[in-house]
Amino acid sequence: MTDDRSKDEETTAVPDTPHVDQAVPRRRFLDNSWKVLGVALVAEAAWTSYDLLKPAAASGFGGVVNAGAVDDFIEEGSVAYSLNGRFYVTQYQGGLRALYQKCPHLGCKVPWNPATGEFKCPCHGSVFNLIGEYQSGPAPRGMDRFPVTIENNQVIVDTSAFVEGPPPGTNEGPAPGPTGTSG
Ligand code: FES
Repeated sequence: MTDDRSKDEETTAVPDTPHVDQAVPRRRFLDNSWKVLGVALVAEAAWTSYDLLKPAAASGFGGVVNAGAVDDFIEEGSVAYSLNGRFYVTQYQGGLRALYQKCPHLGCKVPWNPATGEFKCPCHGSVFNLIGEYQSGPAPRGMDRFPVTIENNQVIVDTSAFVEGPPPGTNEGPAPGPTGTSG
C-alpha cells in the first residue's frame, strides 16, 4: 500500500522549482520586460504631449467658421452676425461678404444698425455701408473682410487672415438708409 502511494506521488509530483541555471533566462526576461515597459511609457508620454500641444483644428475665430446654410442668406440686404467668427455676413445683389467686426480705425467692434442701414463705429463714428465700404469718419478704409466659399450649401468663412477693406471712395454698394434687414 505504501509503495503504491509513493508510486502515485512519483507520477503526479509537481516539477521542481528552477535551478540557478534556469534563473538566468528569467532575469534576462525581466530585464527585457522593464526595457519594453520603459519604451512604452516614453512613447505614451510623447504621444500625450503631442496630443496636448498640437494645434487644434480651429472651428471658431482664427479658423474656418460655418456661418450657416446658404438659404439663410437669400434675403436681399440681410445682415447676419456670427459671434463665433466675429464677422457679419451681408447679402447684396446675390453676393455674400463676411465683414470683420473690428473697426479698421482703432479696433472697436462695429455694430450694424438696421434702422439707418449702416455700420457705425461707436468709438469715433466711422460709417460703412451694407458691404462695409467707407462712408465717413476717421477709419482709413472700408471694413476688412474674410474669404467666403460655399461648400455643400453651407457658407464657409475663413477667419485665419482678413483682406483689407476697400479704400475710401469705393462705392459699389448701397448708400446707407433703412433696409428693413435683420441685425
Ligand atoms: Fe472705429 Fe475709431 S475705432 S472710428
